Amino acid sequence: MLQIFGAGLVFKCDENFSIIHNGAIAFEEGQDSIIKVGDYKELCALYPHAQRTFLPNGVLLPALINAHIHFEFGAHFAEFSYGDFGVWLDSLMQKRDALLGDGIESIITQGIKEQVEAGVGSVGAISSYGNDMLPLAKSPLRVVYFNEAIGSNPSAIDFLYKNLISRLEESKTLASSRFIPALALHSPYSLHPIMAQKLITIATQENYPLSAHFLESSHEREWLTQSSGYFKGFFQRLAGLESLKSFYTPQSFLEMLSPIKHLSLTHCLYITEEEARLIDKLGGAIITCPRSNRLLNNRFFPHKLIRHTDIPLAIGTDGKSSNNNVNLLDELRASLYAYPNEDMNKLACRLILSATLYGAKALGLNNGTLQEGKSVDFALFDFIKPLVSQGEALSRSALHFILHSQKPSRLYINTKAVL
Ligand code: BEZ
Ligand code: FE2
Repeated sequence: MLQIFGAGLVFKCDENFSIIHNGAIAFEEGQDSIIKVGDYKELCALYPHAQRTFLPNGVLLPALINAHIHFEFGAHFAEFSYGDFGVWLDSLMQKRDALLGDGIESIITQGIKEQVEAGVGSVGAISSYGNDMLPLAKSPLRVVYFNEAIGSNPSAIDFLYKNLISRLEESKTLASSRFIPALALHSPYSLHPIMAQKLITIATQENYPLSAHFLESSHEREWLTQSSGYFKGFFQRLAGLESLKSFYTPQSFLEMLSPIKHLSLTHCLYITEEEARLIDKLGGAIITCPRSNRLLNNRFFPHKLIRHTDIPLAIGTDGKSSNNNVNLLDELRASLYAYPNEDMNKLACRLILSATLYGAKALGLNNGTLQEGKSVDFALFDFIKPLVSQGEALSRSALHFILHSQKPSRLYINTKAVL
């Protein structure tokens, strides 16, 4: 059955943030490829037998993409200390075991529900333990499933590598167009280069997306460039870890990632312009998590660092250990207030692209934009009134969308109705 979904405003989420007034998309049920995007009436004339849905006050846009989320962290309430990355990491290490106690299933299910109810269709899920694998594979979400490796102690490499490979193998048995196995290197300060190199080789051979946290804190920058500061004490305290020199410089870590095709680096709060140029050269994407960055590092990603590059800037919520919730619409709203010197309407358009077009680029997905041939992943939000009145510029609707969107009335992922 051919379907037409339309709305008073359609955010195509192409590079120019084109908006169609009274637009629509057409697709065939069960076929994950948009057939046509255009004027609602024209599509109805073109496909007179199609089933139609049209919301005059609505906004139709690609299903949102939460490019960086940890579903496994959430079994805590008001537990951590914020305001400085070192203070936070110390509080996390103290409570690490308690965080993965009973009820992990329901925490993950709740996280998935939060995604769907915010209009998120795809996630970049960073998995530390594999507890989220089955719930995510069974969920309606499109998932890039990043099996994450961590561990700086050389004597633990064999064990950690075997554990990682068994998680990866299990995720491969679940692979589908909606569940894409991938690899993550936790960060340059926390992963031994032998392990990192092995994983980069696998990701290159198998063409897996690869992600890493990178230069999230000033402490990390100091450690990578001078082997001093907070992390020096951290590694001295961490039993059995005598690693008193950084494994990498920022540059050597990035250069090691050069064979990766779908590379994403999360946070990058403390990169230099030169490192941004190198990320650009590698074809990498940056994923920013604004609320997490404010809580842990008192900083938001400086947009000027990538102004003269082609780096896609995607957005994510990070996990609940560094956020109050994992609602991507709340993340967009918070981001509006993070850049008081930028033009509000332009910023709003760019933020929506971070959560759609650039999220897809970061994760290597064929969605994030409403265009012929793209996946049928879309959200339809309804409002009590149109976001733009007669005679007003359509582009003002991006800001109002971010301010007022709560829960989509329809969400389709992989041509299937989820809401
Ligand atoms: C480790 O397991 O080696 C590690 C964990 C957290 C931060 C840094 C290192
Ligand atoms: Fe993270």
